[in-house]
Amino acid sequence: MFITFEGIEGCGKTTQVDLFVRYLEKRGVELIKTFEPGGTEIGKDIRKILLDSKNTHLSPLAELILYAADRAQHTNEKLIPALDRGKWVICDRFFDATVAYQGYGRGMDMELIGLLNSKAACGLCPDLTILLDCPEDIGLKRALARNKELDLEAQGRFEKEKLEFHRKVRNGYLALADRYKERFRVIDASRPVEMISQDIHNLITPYIDAIR
Ligand SMILES: Nc1ncnc2c1ncn2[C@@H]1O[C@H](COP(=O)(O)OP(=O)(O)OP(=O)(O)O)[C@@H](O)[C@H]1O
Ligand SMILES: [Mg+2]
Repeated sequence: MFITFEGIEGCGKTTQVDLFVRYLEKRGVELIKTFEPGGTEIGKDIRKILLDSKNTHLSPLAELILYAADRAQHTNEKLIPALDRGKWVICDRFFDATVAYQGYGRGMDMELIGLLNSKAACGLCPDLTILLDCPEDIGLKRALARNKELDLEAQGRFEKEKLEFHRKVRNGYLALADRYKERFRVIDASRPVEMISQDIHNLITPYIDAIR
C-alpha cells in the first residue's frame, strides 16, 4: 500500500503524516514514513538546493529536473524495496506535487513533466493520495509562523512566492483530484488538526481491515 499526502505549503501534511503513522503503527501496520524532496542521503543535498531561499535564480527547468533526480533516487533506493517487502509506504509529497507546482504553478510543459514523473517513479503510482486542501492564505500563514518558530527562514524558497502562485498550485491539486478520482481523497484542511486526522482514520479503516 502506497499512500501519499499532498497540498500547498502549511496545509498540514507533515503534522498529519506523523499522526497517521502513529495511528497505523498502533494497529500493527508495518510501514516506512518518508518524504520528498530529500528522502535519501543523496536527496538531502538536492533538497538543500531546492528549498534554499538564496537560490532565487534557480531556473524552472533546473528545478524540475532536480525534483525528478530526487524522486528517481528515492523510488529506487527506498520506495520500491519497502513495497517489495510488503510494507506500507507513507510519503509526504510525491509526483503530484511536481504537476501542481512546476506544471500548474510555474506553467511548465505538462508533457515533459508527465514523462519525467513516470520515469522517475519507475511506473510506481500511489494507491491512495490524501489531498489536504485549504485556502492559500491559511496555509502560507501557518508555514510562515512555523518557520519563524523553528528558525527555518533560510529554507523557504517556496514560501517567498506570491499568494497568486500558491493559488495556482492549490487549484492544480484540485484539478488533479478531479481527474484521478479513484485514488484521490480531498480533505478540508482549514479545520482543527484533530478533525482532519479523524477523517483520515475513517477513510483508512477499510484498508486496514482488508489486510487482516
Ligand atoms: N489543522 C491545523 N490548524 C492549525 N495549525 C495547523 C494545522 N495543521 C498544522 N498546523 C500548523 O501549521 C504549521 C504547518 O504545518 P505542517 O508543517 O504540518 O504543514 P506542511 O503541509 O507539512 O507544510 P510544508 O509544505 O511547508 O512542509 C505547523 O506549525 C503546524 O503545527
Ligand atoms: Mg511539511
